[in-house]
Amino acid sequence: MSATYLMPTYLRQPISFTRGSGSWLYTRDETPYLDALTGIAVCGLGHCHPQVTDAIQQQAATLVHTSNLFGIDWQERAGEALCNAAQMDSVFFANSGAEANEAALKLARLYAHQQGFKRPKVIVMEQSFHGRTLLSLSATANPKAREGFYTLDDDFIRVPFGDIAAIEQAAHDYEDICAVFVEPIQGEGGLNTASNGFSYLEQIQAVCNTHNWLFMLDEVQTGNGRTGKYFAYQHSSARPDVLTTAKGLGNGFPVGACMVRGRANGLFGAGSHGSTYGGTPLASRVVHSVYDVLANSDIMKNAVTEGQFIRDGMVDAFGEYGVSSRGAGMMIGIALPEDMDCSNLVDRARDEQKLIINVTGAHVIRLLPPLNMSRDESSQVVERLVNLLKPSF
Ligand SMILES: Cc1ncc(COP(=O)(O)O)c(C=O)c1O
Repeated sequence: MSATYLMPTYLRQPISFTRGSGSWLYTRDETPYLDALTGIAVCGLGHCHPQVTDAIQQQAATLVHTSNLFGIDWQERAGEALCNAAQMDSVFFANSGAEANEAALKLARLYAHQQGFKRPKVIVMEQSFHGRTLLSLSATANPKAREGFYTLDDDFIRVPFGDIAAIEQAAHDYEDICAVFVEPIQGEGGLNTASNGFSYLEQIQAVCNTHNWLFMLDEVQTGNGRTGKYFAYQHSSARPDVLTTAKGLGNGFPVGACMVRGRANGLFGAGSHGSTYGGTPLASRVVHSVYDVLANSDIMKNAVTEGQFIRDGMVDAFGEYGVSSRGAGMMIGIALPEDMDCSNLVDRARDEQKLIINVTGAHVIRLLPPLNMSRDESSQVVERLVNLLKPSF
């Protein structure tokens, strides 16, 4: 396969897959690889889930696209299902996580505009990742992703993740804040959880309510069952005003969603936002089929038990050497000792163990397996990781 005509925006691994089924990816010669990454938290139901494949096939043969100039029955149905699952009032369908976040950040501006702000600011976190459109990139912390793009830094205030006092301090220091935008667990930034877990979200919501700011959650990665609840915020009693998601929403079909509730509902009117492809009959039917599988199965429960099994297995094997685990459900971080050289772990896992993983934040193995992984498969994840790491201890 030649990559000559592709812009080199990705450091690609020297392998490609031609087929996927459940937790497994296959090369052209049918070598199976155990997929503990699912396209970075995308194929939560596993590769080519039969119900989702069926929905794609049927809708592709019926009607792919009309336009948002017309009613779209499947968009109505997907919207109702998703808003009920998320406890939100209404939804805008986009095509990616960055676009869903762009919608959220535009909503924050509209909200501020209604209150007479000229150049409102949104509080975001250190180590955050929100996407690569210009505004979502400006909200993102990663210096490598931002370099050279003249990000809109005046529009954001950055505080340490998990530090509620820093948000309170910002409220004291600035007059023109309109929202807080945060990931419940930081995915790209190192699988970081707040020290007080999901109660951090309740604390943020309380500050937002005090100051009349929007409380906005980026659940692009944590949503759609990934952490064992439909949305990660449901581990707490907090409720966002704005909620974005993508990734697992289409199980590999490109789609994103920005949902609103209460004071954020009704900010967008006709013409104030849009997308040619947002919520096509095909995309919407896929969203509905993923919802149907998640809502009518034990898959989220499975994500909790198998996620814990993998975490426990790794800590049992290497806890005495300082290895610890973090995350929730099937969003798993295995933190290795900081002085350990992890630079070739991804390649060795793939080539020696036929296991697909990711390493983030320099020394954290990031696992995002299918939510419906079987016990045999999660045992294999642990076994292959133990084989991989054993020589290092
Ligand atoms: C939390 C979060 N927000 C936004 C994005 C961007 O999503 P997309 O790549 O679909 O634009 C990502 C992608 O990794 C993400 O993890």
